[in-house]
Amino acid sequence: FLGGMAGAGIAAVAAAGGAFSLLNDAAKNKASAADSTLTIPDLLEGTTTDSTTTFTLEAKTGTSEVLSGVTSSTMGYNQSFLGPTMKWTNGDTVLLNITNSLGADTTVHFHGAHVPAKMDGGPQVAFSDGTTWSPTFTVDDDAKTLWYHPHALGTTAQQAVHGLAGMIIVEDDSTTSSDLPSDYGVDDIPLIFQCLATDSAGDIKYDLAGYLTNGLSFPVLLNGTNVDSTTLGFTATKTRTRFRALNASPSDIITIQRSDGGTLTQIASDQGYLAEAAEVTTIRLVAGARAEFVMDLTADATLQAVITTGWVRGGSGTYDILAITASGTDTPDDLPTTLNTIERYDTSDFTARTITLGQSGATMLINGSAGTTMAAMAMISTTLGSKEIWTIKNSTQLEHSFHLHDVPYQLISINGDTPTGVELGWYDTYEVVGGGSIQIAMEFTDFADDTYMYMLHCHLLQHEDEGMMASLMVTES
Ligand code: C2O
Ligand code: CU
Repeated sequence: FLGGMAGAGIAAVAAAGGAFSLLNDAAKNKASAADSTLTIPDLLEGTTTDSTTTFTLEAKTGTSEVLSGVTSSTMGYNQSFLGPTMKWTNGDTVLLNITNSLGADTTVHFHGAHVPAKMDGGPQVAFSDGTTWSPTFTVDDDAKTLWYHPHALGTTAQQAVHGLAGMIIVEDDSTTSSDLPSDYGVDDIPLIFQCLATDSAGDIKYDLAGYLTNGLSFPVLLNGTNVDSTTLGFTATKTRTRFRALNASPSDIITIQRSDGGTLTQIASDQGYLAEAAEVTTIRLVAGARAEFVMDLTADATLQAVITTGWVRGGSGTYDILAITASGTDTPDDLPTTLNTIERYDTSDFTARTITLGQSGATMLINGSAGTTMAAMAMISTTLGSKEIWTIKNSTQLEHSFHLHDVPYQLISINGDTPTGVELGWYDTYEVVGGGSIQIAMEFTDFADDTYMYMLHCHLLQHEDEGMMASLMVTES
């Protein structure tokens, strides 16, 4: 068991230099300090008939260069690595036809979406190679950034690190949304981060056994391109540009900052707009988390990612990931002073529970049970309309990333401290440091079901696969 290896001094081998692009062959539009252009994942075109928008996805295998000049076996949706971005609109009905061509069972989970448990893509709805899963539901989320990824029991880490991940942008008709940049690929830019591990032959690793003895590389990818020794370029043709950052890594923590120490204007956390925009110098994303920020670019700027020593990596590092050339001449309007109305929960009459994150040797536990099968995992039962406050207690010395399906939560306390600033937003994935605890509050609305369950788990994917996952059943009162 290597969960405690953080900081054990494994040398991270930097990938050989060189610019390359995984997802398309877009002509290189060289910005001053950049080696190649940021790849923007394609937008997946849906077809709309009778007010249902249908999207078609195929989970498949392929090859990509994860390390420069080395071909890796990878997986992607509709392509060989990562997947296209989907846009959903609040209130619309969507139908997804997802075909499994992986040669193994998979699921597709809509991380952060408020959808019926049967449509949520948890382990109970795994589908086999050669079959198509067709979930359909009415989008019931305000504007936010979600993502989709596999979630079958025991294989989530293995499938996700090979490239199965994509972004979902939910749009709504709020005035905040209409006041913010939303032209995908122009002034609304996805930033999908993956901190991976490969051996020198390019094999992407997910099982840590042997990591101490094998010389591994720990590539950092941005939208599928290795940025270990490459700074990608982006030309901002609009002065105000919105970025949607997703940490799709299996374990590492990513902090985004400007190289000049200036501020970023954070507008959203995992689950949509903050009450008001926050000027921040860093945005810290645990595995699975998202944030949105805007930059008013009147001069060139460089974004950096600081990778904190996580579970997989041997070391931390700071990478210049994106050199932004400011070419916009428009003058953006002032940002709205209020982005969202967030009524803070008064938890005095909320039902209290404790969720304990534990471990026993190599086995990871929630409330004492290893969730490696549906039958073995701890089950939380609640009823529609229930309002609850949970204490997430980390009884291990490891870092965890606590994710709850179905409904967003508010942070009530973080290691005993009262949340401030961006911590007052809505979340679905949050850091719980070794020995620490957070309190979260949520309300279970809609979608009672006594057969299908939601999941709650650590989003360090190997912890999830090793059992740090429980189920949540929401039934009629
Ligand atoms: Cu992003 Cu249950 O997962
Ligand atoms: Cu964990």
